[in-house]
Amino acid sequence: MKELWQIFVLILTLGAVSCGIYQKTSVVPPLTIPGAEYTKISQCKPCHKEQSEFFENTTHARISAKDMEKEGLGCGICHGPGSLHMENEYEPDLIINPNKNPEICFRCHLDKKAEFRLQYHHPVLEGIVSCADCHNPMGQMHARPWSLTSQLDINEICFKCHPEQRGPFVFEHEAMREGCSICHKVHGSVNDKLLIARDSNLCLRCHFQTQTDPSRFWIGDSDHDNRMPRGSCFSAACHTAVHGSNFDDHLRY
Ligand code: HEC
Ligand code: HEC
Ligand code: HEC
Ligand code: HEC
Ligand code: HEC
Ligand code: HEC
Ligand code: HEC
Repeated sequence: MKELWQIFVLILTLGAVSCGIYQKTSVVPPLTIPGAEYTKISQCKPCHKEQSEFFENTTHARISAKDMEKEGLGCGICHGPGSLHMENEYEPDLIINPNKNPEICFRCHLDKKAEFRLQYHHPVLEGIVSCADCHNPMGQMHARPWSLTSQLDINEICFKCHPEQRGPFVFEHEAMREGCSICHKVHGSVNDKLLIARDSNLCLRCHFQTQTDPSRFWIGDSDHDNRMPRGSCFSAACHTAVHGSNFDDHLRY
C-alpha cells in the first residue's frame, strides 16, 4: 500500500513539474494601478529578498496575460504592476497587498470559492482563516509543487491550529504519515468534520475487507462481521481515536 502511494505521489509530482515548465496565459484581466507598469521579478528582489527567493519555482511565477506573454506578470498577479511602487515605496496606493483577503485568489481560483461554500468548510469566507494560513503564495523552500504547502512535514501547518492531532501518541496511526488530506477534504466538504467519506469507506480504502465465506468479513486479523452493521469504523465504542491513541493499539479511547 505504502509503495502504491509513493508511486502515485511521484506521478503527481512529475505531472506538476512537467506542466509547470510551460508559461500559462491567464484569462483573467491583469490587475491595474493607474500609471504603473508590470516589472520583472528580479526588480522586486533587491528589496524583498524573502518573498522573492523561492517564487521562481512556483507555477504562479509563470503566469502571463494576453499580449504580455514575453514579460510575464511576475509578482504582479497578486500585487498589481509595481513600477511606481519601486520609486515611491511608502505610498500605500501604489501597490496592492491582498493581506488575508481571499478575493484576489478567487479571481483565478473561482472553484475554490465554491469549495468554501460547502456545508462544512474552513471559515475562509468568514474571514477567520486565510489562504495564506495554509499556503505560501510566494513559494517556500521545499514547497510541494502542486500545493504550495511545505513538504518537510505536510501536517505541520494544520498543527498550528489543531495541536491535539499532533500527539505524540503511544499508538500512532500510520495513515497520518500520508497527510491529513488523505481523510479530510481540507477546503470544504459535504461531510461533517470535512471528511472525504462519511462512513466506513473512508477506512476501507486502506484496510481491505476480505470475505472468507458468505457470513464472514475480515479486516486486519479480526472478524468484523457483527461489527460493521453497528456504524462506521470510527463511531462510538469502535476506533474513535482515529488520529492515534495513548491507551489502545486498536485506536480506541
Ligand atoms: C526600492 C526598494 C523596493 C522595491 C524595488 C520594491 N519594493 Fe515593495 N516595498 C518596499 C518597502 C520599503 C516597503 C514597505 C513600505 C511600508 O512599510 O509602508 C514595501 C512594501 C511592499 C508591499 C506591502 C505593501 C503594504 O501595503 O503592506 C508589497 C506587497 C510590495 N512591497 C511588493 C513589491 C513588488 C511586487 C515589487 C516589485 C514589482 C516591489 N515591492 C519592489 C520597497 C521596495
Ligand atoms: C499568488 C499571489 C501572490 C504572488 C504571486 C505574490 N504575492 Fe506577495 N503576498 C501575497 C499575499 C496573499 C500576501 C499577504 C500575506 C499575509 O498577509 O499573510 C502577500 C504579502 C507580500 C508582502 C508584504 C509582507 C508580507 O510578507 O506580508 C510583500 C513585500 C510581498 N508580498 C512581496 C511579493 C513579491 C516580491 C512577490 C514576487 C516575488 C510576490 N509578493 C508575489 C500574495 C502573493
Ligand atoms: C492570475 C491568476 C491567479 C491568481 C490571482 C492566483 N492564482 Fe493560484 N494558480 C493559478 C494558476 C493558473 C495555477 C496553476 C494550477 C491551475 O491551473 O489551477 C495556480 C496554482 C495554485 C496552487 C497550486 C500550486 C501550484 O503550484 O500549482 C495554489 C495552492 C494556489 N494557486 C493558491 C493561490 C492563492 C492562495 C492565491 C491568492 C493569494 C492565488 N493562488 C492567486 C492562478 C492564479
Ligand atoms: C486549512 C488549510 C487550507 C486553507 C485555508 C486553504 N487551503 Fe488550499 N490546500 C490545502 C491543502 C492541504 C492542499 C493540498 C491538498 C492535497 O494535496 O491533497 C490544498 C490545495 C490547494 C490547491 C491545489 C489543489 C487543488 O485543490 O486544486 C489550490 C489551487 C488551493 N489549495 C487554493 C487555495 C485557495 C485559493 C485558498 C483560499 C481561498 C485556499 N487554498 C485555502 C489547505 C488549505
Ligand atoms: C489558521 C488556523 C487553521 C489552520 C492552519 C487549519 N485549521 Fe482546521 N479549522 C480551523 C477553524 C477555525 C475551524 C472551524 C472550527 C469550528 O467551526 O468550530 C477548523 C475546522 C477544521 C476541521 C473540522 C472540525 C470540526 O470539528 O468540525 C477539520 C477536520 C480541520 N479543521 C482540519 C484541518 C487540516 C487537515 C488542516 C491542515 C491542512 C487545518 N485544519 C488547518 C482553523 C485552522
Ligand atoms: C485516517 C483518517 C484521518 C486522518 C489521516 C486524519 N483524520 Fe482528522 N478525523 C478523521 C475522522 C474519521 C474524524 C471524525 C471523528 C469523529 O467524528 O468522531 C476526524 C476529525 C478531525 C477533527 C475534529 C475533531 C475531532 O477530533 O473529532 C479535526 C480537527 C481533525 N480531524 C484534524 C486532523 C488533522 C489536523 C489531521 C492531520 C494531522 C487529521 N485530522 C488526519 C480521520 C482522519
Ligand atoms: C491512507 C491509508 C489508511 C487509511 C485511510 C486508514 N488507515 Fe488505519 N492504518 C493504516 C496503516 C498503514 C496502518 C498500520 C498497518 C496496519 O496495521 O495495517 C493502520 C493501522 C490501523 C489500526 C491498527 C491496527 C492494529 O491491528 O493495530 C486501526 C484500528 C486502524 N488503522 C483504523 C483505521 C480507521 C478506523 C480508519 C478510518 C477512519 C483508517 N484506519 C483509515 C492506513 C490507513
